[in-house]
Amino acid sequence: MSVHKNVKKVTTHTLQEMKNVGVKISMLTGYDFSMAKIIDEAGVDVILVGDSASNVMAGHETTLPITLDQMIYHASSVVRAVSRALVVVDMPFGSYQGNSKEALSSAIKIMKESGGHAVKMEGGREISESISRILTAGIPVMGHLGLTPQSIYKFGTYVVRAKEEEEAQRLIEDAKTLEAAGCFAIVVEKIPAELAALVAKTVAIPVIGIGAGNGVDGQVLVVHDMLGINNEFSPRFLRKYNNLYEQMMQSFQEYIRDVRSGDFPNEKEQY
Ligand code: KIV
Repeated sequence: MSVHKNVKKVTTHTLQEMKNVGVKISMLTGYDFSMAKIIDEAGVDVILVGDSASNVMAGHETTLPITLDQMIYHASSVVRAVSRALVVVDMPFGSYQGNSKEALSSAIKIMKESGGHAVKMEGGREISESISRILTAGIPVMGHLGLTPQSIYKFGTYVVRAKEEEEAQRLIEDAKTLEAAGCFAIVVEKIPAELAALVAKTVAIPVIGIGAGNGVDGQVLVVHDMLGINNEFSPRFLRKYNNLYEQMMQSFQEYIRDVRSGDFPNEKEQY
């Protein structure tokens, strides 16, 4: 019998319950089987198969190039590793902005072919019809407001969003719209902490922040960033829990030395 048979799986209802009783939600990105297995066994509540895979896995400058099929490949690898966490899959750029029918068929393809448990979409009022339509198929939707990387060419920079009153007000209205449309949670990215806390108070659904302070219902980080694998990315909001860049570099260099010197493999490491 699998050791995970009796694990209580995290659902969208679990997350709502956590908000209701004041327990913070932990979320990390995951893109592959091996990493997702460790993240899940560590007890993270939500694994986001983020379209940040476009950056950290494929080396693109933005999240725009990643395709629906590539997201499904990453998501299915994560789903195979996970026993407990809720797996949320980003709908990639171009798979839902056209119209609500296209959005629904993209969401169905993700759910059918990856085995993920929910989808995430960037945007506010402009995607509310698509959210409602996706929900009619029984697919849970997580919203994403504030810095929305799929719109980078509209905004031009990755700076903090909604610092001005008008944009802050619009963001609060969008959060209410996403809640009314039926989203089970909302990610808020890189907005002032005070505004994020106000959003979390205004809507009843969980609000999960990245670069949005501590007044929200949970936190999300890109796993490669928090492990310090990427040593060129150090924004103020990022807490690095390791310096894997250094550790991996050391291991690779030691291996190269051992191969070159003939020290590896030794007698015990051969047949
Ligand atoms: O794609 C991603 O990793 C995300 C998080 C930053 C929230 O959307």
